[in-house]
Amino acid sequence: MDKMRIGIVGCGDISGIYLKNLTELYREVEVTHVCDVMAERARGAAEEHGIRRFSTDMNELVNDPQVDIVLNLGRTFDHFGISAAALNAGKHVYSEKPLGITFEEGKALVDLAEEKGLLLGCAPDTFLGGAFQTCRKIIESGMIGDLIGASAFMVCRGHESWHPNPDFYYKPGGGPMLDMGPYYITTLVNLMGGIKSVSGMAKKSFPVRTITSEPRFGETIEVEVETHVNGLMEFENGAVGNILTTFDVYHSKAPSIEIYGSEGTLQVPDPDWFGGEIKLYRPETEDYSVIPSMFPYDGNCRGLGLADMAKAVQTGREMRVSGRRALHVLEVMCGFIKSSEERRTVDIGTGYTKPALMKSTGLAGILD
Ligand SMILES: NC(=O)c1ccc[n+]([C@@H]2O[C@H](COP(=O)([O-])OP(=O)(O)OC[C@H]3O[C@@H](n4cnc5c(N)ncnc54)[C@H](O)[C@@H]3O)[C@@H](O)[C@H]2O)c1
Repeated sequence: MDKMRIGIVGCGDISGIYLKNLTELYREVEVTHVCDVMAERARGAAEEHGIRRFSTDMNELVNDPQVDIVLNLGRTFDHFGISAAALNAGKHVYSEKPLGITFEEGKALVDLAEEKGLLLGCAPDTFLGGAFQTCRKIIESGMIGDLIGASAFMVCRGHESWHPNPDFYYKPGGGPMLDMGPYYITTLVNLMGGIKSVSGMAKKSFPVRTITSEPRFGETIEVEVETHVNGLMEFENGAVGNILTTFDVYHSKAPSIEIYGSEGTLQVPDPDWFGGEIKLYRPETEDYSVIPSMFPYDGNCRGLGLADMAKAVQTGREMRVSGRRALHVLEVMCGFIKSSEERRTVDIGTGYTKPALMKSTGLAGILD
């Protein structure tokens, strides 16, 4: 079967791991074109990874007949423009998260893709990793009984200590909920099912942030979004949950995610990664046991969702990391902020159906 040809728009911080995995790990795709408005980034990516074409104008890339799928690695507020341009040029699109910076942007992209008969996928794909597929198997095997609730904590002091250009994390489309929430909410719905209503309470603790990473050490950023966001979730199955995402707080010892059932508690690892330690508490043992991963892809497999989508284009089977699922996650995240602003519970209109569990083909980088 011919390899699916990938064109990448945005050769910034996260592009390195995508380029590595798409050129070395996933064997049924090839990167044919890279683009960044900053010429040195596009040229550097092409030279380092042996990509035959680079450009500085995304219109060249989205209209390149040698590109089947556009991988959108722009900043959050660039996502809509890049994805819409690619879909309008007749290309399938896989976007970094979030799908858009508002529910309306995400919905417009899902509608556009469906109208044009194209596939739209969206990160995160970490929930396809071995640890998270194992957690789902544990829950679906009944090992924690009926689902009662869940707690999730994403606690950090912000990204300005390590990201070279962290401004976008504090502009519309940024903030801890839209930036890190996708990992947590995507994992929660994959484990628990869809969410039907949310409420939230959010604040901005620091109006100005000081960059401590290089090369812009000492520069400041005006904060335009809430940076400490609490949310409550009512799941379709009757379970209830809570989530805290914050860029304002130092080290917490709270677990990343806990799932509570009538027969036990499951500690789920950090959903920003593909693997991690899974712990299960059952009353018989009166302690936590570590459960080994039962699925492949435990390392840094970024791009797994795109490889899965490429297989879906080739075979016609359903893709796992779909825009429709990402839209549900986006509606939930925006719902917390809306609830906080309007001081009321917000109903979620989009639904969520769990994708098929991953299957091992026995060959790393070949999807089922
Ligand atoms: N950095 C991380 O660790 C990380 C991790 C996971 C996800 N992400 C997500 O990946 C996305 C990109 O993040 P990043 O950290 O790489 O950002 P970045 O600012 O380092 O890189 C973005 C790049 O996109 C380019 N760009 C933007 N619009 C463009 C256009 N129209 N045409 C061509 N080039 C364009 C910019 O010039 C820039 O080089 C964000 O959505 C972010 O949330 C980042």
